[in-house]
Amino acid sequence: MSIMLMVIIKVRLRWWVMLLDDDDDDDDDDDGANLTHIGVTHVLNAAEGADDNYHVTADKEIYRPAGIKYKGVEASDDTEFDLSKHFNNCADYIADALEGGGKVMVFCKVGSSRSAAIVLAFLMLKRHYTAPEAVKRVRSRREICPNDGFLQQLCDLNETLKSIGHFDKKRPQSTNM
Ligand SMILES: *[C@@H]1O[C@H](CO)[C@@H](O)[C@H](O)[C@H]1NC(C)=O
Ligand SMILES: *[C@@H]1O[C@H](CO)[C@@H](O)[C@H](O)[C@H]1NC(C)=O
Repeated sequence: MSIMLMVIIKVRLRWWVMLLDDDDDDDDDDDGANLTHIGVTHVLNAAEGADDNYHVTADKEIYRPAGIKYKGVEASDDTEFDLSKHFNNCADYIADALEGGGKVMVFCKVGSSRSAAIVLAFLMLKRHYTAPEAVKRVRSRREICPNDGFLQQLCDLNETLKSIGHFDKKRPQSTNM
């Protein structure tokens, strides 16, 4: 099974898509109406909200006709915002999609803080990466910059997972992430 995660920047009708997968080109791009040709089955919008400078109103009509599943998380890129309350349900969403053979595109407004933190939490929760390993893995493909509050929340998650021996567990062998 191939694991693919993407962090994208949406500008108008053009999408710059970064594939975090060894099997694909890094510079795939697409228009908003057609993600299917790069195999996207699920999208996760980590900046759900009124379309302003900080949020993206992702038009579900773009995805539904293409059979793409959509999840929106109303999150602010604010150090005070508790993104951690979404870590588990987003990780479940991504993991379920991948286990079903799908490909997930995770995005927010700029693709460096909210979506990145969500992907890092997924790697920690579902792939048993420690926080530093997860950051290293994503940075090997793309520069990211979660805000200081999100980094703190990821450190807290690291501590929690460490205390229950989560990182000692063997990683699934069937993945490339
Ligand atoms: C999307 O891409 C696929 C594969 O390249 C193509 O067959 C299909 O017609 C495209 N759909 C739209 C709406 O452009
Ligand atoms: C996260 O936990 C790992 C495993 O115990 C540890 O090596 C690492 O220093 C921790 N990192 C942070 C940022 O908390």
